[in-house]
Amino acid sequence: MSTILVVGGAGYIGSQTAYTLLEEGYQVVILDNLIYGHRELIPPQAQFIQADLADLDSLRQAFASFNIQAVLHFAAFAYVGESVSHPAKYYQNNLVGSLHLLQVMQEFKVRNLVFSSTCATYGVPDQVPIQETTIQQPINPYGRSKWMVEQILGDYHQAYGLSFIALRYFNACGADPQLRTGEWHEPETHLIPLVLQVASGRRPEITIFGQDYPTPDGTCIRDYIHTQDLAKAHLLALEKLLAAKEQALAEFINLGSGVGYSVKEIITMAEKVTGRPIPVQIGPRRVGDPAVLVADKQKAQKELGWFPLYSNLEYILQTAWAWEQYKEKHYLSKN
Ligand code: UFG
Repeated sequence: MSTILVVGGAGYIGSQTAYTLLEEGYQVVILDNLIYGHRELIPPQAQFIQADLADLDSLRQAFASFNIQAVLHFAAFAYVGESVSHPAKYYQNNLVGSLHLLQVMQEFKVRNLVFSSTCATYGVPDQVPIQETTIQQPINPYGRSKWMVEQILGDYHQAYGLSFIALRYFNACGADPQLRTGEWHEPETHLIPLVLQVASGRRPEITIFGQDYPTPDGTCIRDYIHTQDLAKAHLLALEKLLAAKEQALAEFINLGSGVGYSVKEIITMAEKVTGRPIPVQIGPRRVGDPAVLVADKQKAQKELGWFPLYSNLEYILQTAWAWEQYKEKHYLSKN
């Protein structure tokens, strides 16, 4: 069975995908610097190398140690606000780090890559649902760093025969139902874990960032996609790359459920699932938040045979709530 290098495999989506690959019989090698990833999320059956993409020699060492057939590249900094105040950090890690990875892949003649991109490459879209052909105008350095890597992948495909599928995630959410992994950001900025931390008593309230948007309840609408669905999409993308053999692919594919939920709908469902009241405060809009981001998911279905099975809101919050409680009991209490 093939050996797959999962860069960023100690993170939220990378670790869920690593578990899925292992279940399918792949050998998994995880490379992660553990800056934002967590050792606890690494599947015990995976090989682990602690290394940073800045370090070319460690990367070469990893490729020399294993017979890698494909790379899944999840490793990136992803705090939109921080990317505005500290863009160098984002371009160094997300852009230069990706260039290093591509360089070493070329040196070792590994040409299959699944790249984690984002709906943030679209910026404020001029059409919703967002198709892959929707014009990309990212509005912050995080989104731009991902957009730039997408452009580079296209150039490497043309010039060097790189075979890649770039997956543009919408709002990743939920957790592994077996509680092996889940969302664990420090600091946490994402809506669902913050709301659940209010339910668990770790935070006093959730601030809604604006309720004067042109949406039915005035709060922003997002497309929430469960990490189990994201992991399955990576498996399908990997299989497509491996099946293409000598043919080099170059695909950009949205991963969303195609359904949008407002901030208030998330909070209401979180109250139902947890059975606890969630105090709310209304704050000003957060800079750079588009009113509505929802994916057109047809291309993923057509090209990958992918259909989201786990992205209904109640299941998302059930798994996220179970994980939040598990994480607080087993991991956070030790800090
Ligand atoms: N929100 C609040 N209060 C909070 C946190 C979030 O009201 O305390 C709102 C946001 O304004 C937004 C929604 O909840 O409308 C979701 O916010 P998240 O921060 O959870 O997610 P984003 O949609 O901002 O971010 C996601 C990805 C990013 C990606 C971005 C693209 O997590 O990586 O989509 O827009 F860059």
